[in-house]
Amino acid sequence: MDYILSLDQGTTSSRAILFDRRGEIVSKAQYPFHQIYPQPGWVEHNPLEIWATERRAMAEAVRSAHADPHSIAGIGITNQRETTILWDRKTGKPIYNAIVWQCRRTAALCDQLKAQGLAEQVAETTGLLIDAYFSGTKIKWILDAIPGARARAERGELLCGTVDSWLIWNLTGQHVTDYSNASRTMLFDIRRLCWDESLCHALGIPMAMLPRPVDSCQCYGRVKPGLAELEDFAGIPVCGSAGDQAAALFGQGCFQSGQAKNTYGTGCFTLMNVGETPVRSRAGLVTSVAWSIGGRTTYALEGSVFNAGSTIQWLRDELGLISSAPECDRLAESVRDSGGVFVVPAFTGLGAPYWDMYARGAMVGLTRGTTKAHIARAVLDSIAYQVADLISAMRQDLPVTCLRVDGGASVSDILMQTQADLLRISVDRPVMVETTAFGAAALAGLASGLWRDQEEVSSLRRSQHVFLPQREQAACEEDYRQWKRAVARAGNWMEK
Ligand code: G3P
Repeated sequence: MDYILSLDQGTTSSRAILFDRRGEIVSKAQYPFHQIYPQPGWVEHNPLEIWATERRAMAEAVRSAHADPHSIAGIGITNQRETTILWDRKTGKPIYNAIVWQCRRTAALCDQLKAQGLAEQVAETTGLLIDAYFSGTKIKWILDAIPGARARAERGELLCGTVDSWLIWNLTGQHVTDYSNASRTMLFDIRRLCWDESLCHALGIPMAMLPRPVDSCQCYGRVKPGLAELEDFAGIPVCGSAGDQAAALFGQGCFQSGQAKNTYGTGCFTLMNVGETPVRSRAGLVTSVAWSIGGRTTYALEGSVFNAGSTIQWLRDELGLISSAPECDRLAESVRDSGGVFVVPAFTGLGAPYWDMYARGAMVGLTRGTTKAHIARAVLDSIAYQVADLISAMRQDLPVTCLRVDGGASVSDILMQTQADLLRISVDRPVMVETTAFGAAALAGLASGLWRDQEEVSSLRRSQHVFLPQREQAACEEDYRQWKRAVARAGNWMEK
C-alpha cells in the first residue's frame, strides 16, 4: 500500500489530494460548485453537487497520478464544518439544500433560545455559544420548513448530518460523524461524547436522525461497489475524518497542549490544542473536540476573525489601491511602519473576543502625509493584530507556546514577521501548506497502518521558515495598545 487519498470538501470547492507515505503530494484535483443565495444572508449548497464534485475530484486525482486504486491504504475526509444536510434514508435524496455554516437565517431563533435562558447549558455542555453558525438550529429550520419532515424523522425515515456524514454515508452506507464535527452542532456533549438529549429536545430534533458519533481515526466502512466514477474504488477503507480546522491542527502536528495553528484565509481560524480536558474560555472563545484517537480525546480552543485576507481583496477590488496581493506586500515593505495608521476591518462586525455585530470598519490616524503604502502596511498589520487578539484571549486560559501557520496570506513574510513580533513566540510556516488535507490523510494513514504513530506523522512535517520576534517588545506593546484604541472607535458603530 503506497497512498492515502484525502478528500477536502470545502465551502467553495471539492478537492482530493493523493499523498504518498512520505507525506508528499502526488496529485490533486479540485472542482468548484455553486453557491446559492436565496435571500440576503442565506447561503445554501446542493448536496448532490457536493457529492458529484467530490467523486469527480477523487477519480481525477487518482487517474492523473496513474495510481492503482488498490494501492490506496485508506481514505481520509475533512470538510467545511457545521453545514447541514437532511436526506431520505431509503432514496438518499436530500429533502432540502445544505444550509451552509455562513447562513444567518436562524439568527432570530438563536435569540429566542438565548431568551429561554439556554446559553449557560449550551456553553457548559457543548463548549459553544448560541449562534446561527452551528448546525442545531439549521436542522430545526429544515424540520420546521419542510411539510411532514419532523414526522418522517420521528419514524426514522430521515437522516441528518454535516458534510463528513453525508460523504461517508454515500461512500460506505454508514451513518457516522467524528467527534470534532459533532462538537460543532450545538447538540453534542463534548465531555460525555454523546448527543445531549435535553438540547435535542429543546430544538425538537428527533435523535434517531443523528449520526453515530465516532473516533476520528478508525475504519467507518469501505467504499461501496458500483459508485459512478468510483467503480475501481470499491473496498477501500474510509478510515479518518475531522472537520477542516481540527484537521489543520492535526496536519500541523500540534499534538502538545499549548501549540496553536492559524489559517490565514478570507478570515482566520485560530485553534490551540488544550490537551485532554476541555477548557472553558474566559474570553469568548469556543471549545471543541479536536480529534479522538483510540479513545483518547484532545480538545481545542478556537477563535475566528471574520475579515483577514478579504481586507487585502478589498484594497484590490473596491479601493483599487493594489492590483494583486503580492503588491500589497511590496508596498507595505516600502515603508518603515504604518505611519500611525490603523485599519480595523470590521466590515461584518467583530468576532472573538469582541463579539460586536454592530462594529463597522474604521481607518484612523490619517495625516496629510499618509500614503497608500502606509494603508497597505496597516491592512497587513490589522490581520496580525486580530490574530494577536485571539491568542491573547487564549493566553487567559493557557500559555501558547508556538503558532504554526497556513492559508493564502501566510506566504507574506512581512505579515508573519509582524505576527511573531506581536506574539513574542515563534511563527512557523511549513513547506507543505496543504495542512488540512494532510491532517485527514494522517488520521487515515494512522488507522490503516501506513504510519505507525503520531510521532512518525510529525516527523513528516518540515518548516519552511520560522519567524522569531525581532522588533523591540515595548514598541510592539505600544502599537498593540493603539490597535485596541482603534478597535474601540469602530465598536458599536451601528448602534443597537
Ligand atoms: O467553520 C467553517 C469552516 O470549517 C469552513 O472552512 O475552509 O471551507 O472556508 P472553509
